[in-house]
Amino acid sequence: MSNSSNIDKKTILELLYSVVLPWKPDTFLTQTDLIDHISVQEDQVHMVLRVKDVSPSEMESLRSHLEHIIQKLDGVTRARVILEDTSTEQQTTGVRRLIFPPRQTSQPKKRSVPPHMHSVPEKKTTPQEAVQSIGCMIAIASGKGGVGKSSTTINLAVALARLGLRVGLLDADIHGPSIPHMLGLEGQVEVVNHKLIPMTAWGVHAMSIGMLVQKDQAMIWRGPMVMGAVKQLISDVLWGELDILLIDTPPGTGDIQLTLAQSIHLDGAIIVSTPQDIALLDARRAISLFQKVKVPILGIIENMSYFRCPHCQEKTYIFGEGGAKQEAQKLDLPLLGEIPIFPSIRTGGDNGTPVAAMDTETEGMSVYYEIATSLIPTINRIRNLKTFSNTQKTESTNDT
Ligand SMILES: Nc1ncnc2c1ncn2[C@@H]1O[C@H](COP(=O)(O)OP(=O)(O)O)[C@@H](O)[C@H]1O
Ligand SMILES: [Mg+2]
Repeated sequence: MSNSSNIDKKTILELLYSVVLPWKPDTFLTQTDLIDHISVQEDQVHMVLRVKDVSPSEMESLRSHLEHIIQKLDGVTRARVILEDTSTEQQTTGVRRLIFPPRQTSQPKKRSVPPHMHSVPEKKTTPQEAVQSIGCMIAIASGKGGVGKSSTTINLAVALARLGLRVGLLDADIHGPSIPHMLGLEGQVEVVNHKLIPMTAWGVHAMSIGMLVQKDQAMIWRGPMVMGAVKQLISDVLWGELDILLIDTPPGTGDIQLTLAQSIHLDGAIIVSTPQDIALLDARRAISLFQKVKVPILGIIENMSYFRCPHCQEKTYIFGEGGAKQEAQKLDLPLLGEIPIFPSIRTGGDNGTPVAAMDTETEGMSVYYEIATSLIPTINRIRNLKTFSNTQKTESTNDT
């Protein structure tokens, strides 16, 4: 992606000539009158399609595919594709016309009374089925709380999205969901055909129980309820086509981690730890849990590695020096990065503007981009392997 060339509607239309409808694979999009309009403003492309009697998953599949290919065009930095459902049923019932998805690039709308999760009518999809269109699923974990899992997750998610990947974020911290606040997400989750539509901020499609219950409502969950909630947060969501789903987990090595590992095929886990001995001890427990359930550990991220004095630039190793690096070497795991203690990481999380989404590049920002960039080959490899094995499965089914 670059801004060097001028993009025009003709280029976009040429690109669209090869797009077929997911619900009618023998029909090209440009043979239909579905395209309502295309507008181009400098490096931003906006396109509206009007569709009728099409399932949400097919609509989402077309929408995300179009955004993906348009965004790849030289000269385009952002593509936004909206599908409006013009089905008679939607209009006569007075149900709000579906606009896919409710996207926002900056601060979203104010929170109104959100629907409680259990008000979503049952439509059985297993967690495995719900994540079929996701290329790669990685949990961000630690044994200990407060070491920076959520901060790391949101910033990596934003960085990956800005690097061009389609990114989802699942907040699996049922007891203390912090993702909506940290991404600046407020407002109501849209429910379409019994499915929750992830909320979007900074290019990341996120889902959290914090979007479904009242902000100040105390959440007391018993074990089985927690597991049910995690499963529901996966299976009742219309994730759409994603390259990567990052999963922010609660501290510890409990039911949630196990539920995740057992209900969906996690492709890997990244362990976040501070350099301190005690955090490392807990990190080792988290590593051993994931290893027991055969989830590969992709590496360790050391958070709060040092503080750099803004005046003299000297580093102070507040929580000790190189603890996670040594641990990674001992366990023969890659050290994915060392994140400094950086004021904007904290304020960004508090204000809902992650440091990775800020305009000015800082040490606190660039480290996330370095880690995200280093993860892309792994994400691509996992995604390609999955696509390959799915193709094999389809072919062998067709052969029999
Ligand atoms: N590298 C960092 N620099 C500054 N503050 C940080 C950093 N990492 C995390 N924090 C802050 O520490 C607190 C705990 O981080 P959080 O990401 O919520 O941890 P966890 O999800 O592991 O409980 C938050 O207030 C967060 O803003
Ligand atoms: Mg957290």
